[in-house]
Amino acid sequence: MADTIHSRTATLRIEDREIELPILSGTLGPDVIDIRKLYAESGMFTFDPGFTSTASCSSAITYIDGDEGELLYRGYPIEQLAERSHFLEVCYLLLYGDLPSAEKLADFEFRITRHTMLHEQMQYFFRGFRRDAHPMATMVGVVGAMSAFYHDSTDITDPWQREVAAIRMIAKMPTIAAWAYKYSIGQPFIYPRNDLDYASNFLHMCFATPCETHNVDPILTRAMDRIMMLHADHEQNASTSTVRLAGSSGANPFACIAAGIACLWGPAHGGANQATLEMLREIGRIERIPEFIARAKDKNDPFRLMGFGHRVYKNFDPRAKVMKQSADEVLDLLGVRDNPLLQVAKELERIALEDDYFVSKKLYPNVDFYSGIILEAMGFPTAMFTPIFAVSRTVGWIAQWKEMIADPTQKIGRPRQLYVGAGRRDHVEVENRG
Ligand code: CMC
Repeated sequence: MADTIHSRTATLRIEDREIELPILSGTLGPDVIDIRKLYAESGMFTFDPGFTSTASCSSAITYIDGDEGELLYRGYPIEQLAERSHFLEVCYLLLYGDLPSAEKLADFEFRITRHTMLHEQMQYFFRGFRRDAHPMATMVGVVGAMSAFYHDSTDITDPWQREVAAIRMIAKMPTIAAWAYKYSIGQPFIYPRNDLDYASNFLHMCFATPCETHNVDPILTRAMDRIMMLHADHEQNASTSTVRLAGSSGANPFACIAAGIACLWGPAHGGANQATLEMLREIGRIERIPEFIARAKDKNDPFRLMGFGHRVYKNFDPRAKVMKQSADEVLDLLGVRDNPLLQVAKELERIALEDDYFVSKKLYPNVDFYSGIILEAMGFPTAMFTPIFAVSRTVGWIAQWKEMIADPTQKIGRPRQLYVGAGRRDHVEVENRG
């Protein structure tokens, strides 16, 4: 897959030597310089912490133009999908490359719906956690443990088993996240309902109890479905790269997705939606915003405005535009516009969009700024924000993992390093050390 047509080369001069490196072109986006033979020819590595200039793979799934603020899933703009599609259709698109016919979609929905239950014994696994465990901790453990429950879909060399593992994970992840939540608040687990669509079923498992009927409002379902679509994939972000790296060693898919969930948890990545709400709570009142803006600008203060900025988007995050619209709909429906936290959010957004520091550095509100606001209004505790991101991103992780496994050029991921530690030295007996 990585060997696209190339006739152009880049010349690298190292002192008195010149090395020709092929230039590869994709369908969209910057060309890349193919350095696979660089070490063999020069004895040197490249140095790129954070992979800011390195393409780690070729992929046909998602395309981002950060300067234009464009996001395409298999070529389709995210705005069109968010408006006219729904999450399971987007899952099909990401997994199989095209939008499904009505028949194929019905079959896919049937397959997902028939896999939503967890092995009953997994309940005991949940019950082994402390009640106050963060739901992400529970999810990392439970998803990793799926490899101990579903042995018949861990052979990565068998395409059928890979397919079953993919369906299982997309189908079961909402049940796992909802049960992690229910366990943390001491309520009974609610079993999946296969008569509901994917997003409604998730909301039902989170908010229903066995004691009374719970009807999910269609506006909330639509908002949740959009959150899921907008988070479904984002090319080679940190958690996806983690899934690929874990999978490159031949690890089973459940272990790989557990690794992705662990990576997503960090506040610079999926944990940003939780961190955003915690920051809004800390700010507390509109009058305190200037103090926090000043801290965000202060080079000597590690504080950052959570929910602002993005590694790739140096323009408004296209997902944030759609999410902002959803946030308005949900806040109107729930009549919570007077909520002081949301007022702080609105004012913070207004100030940051006008302030020279944020404007000049192109630090726009990102998708997690608005998703945090929606989820707060829906009644989710902040600890559930990142698990919901994980539910949504599962399909992206799996699509990328499947693409990698099927790629004949795939190798185990093994970065190099610039060693800056001690030179070779001899061991000294303990009594002779200074
Ligand atoms: N608040 C204040 N200053 C910021 C922020 C922020 N949120 N983000 C970046 N900057 C400044 C940073 O200090 C640096 O300034 P200077 O050039 O003077 O040193 C400049 O902007 C560039 O920052 P960077 O750290 O080089 O940018 P990056 O591409 O490495 O970081 C980021 C991207 C998302 C980690 C960062 O913007 C950030 O920490 N944002 C807050 C956390 C957040 O909301 N993360 C969610 C990202 S979207 C969801 C996802 O994809 O997972």
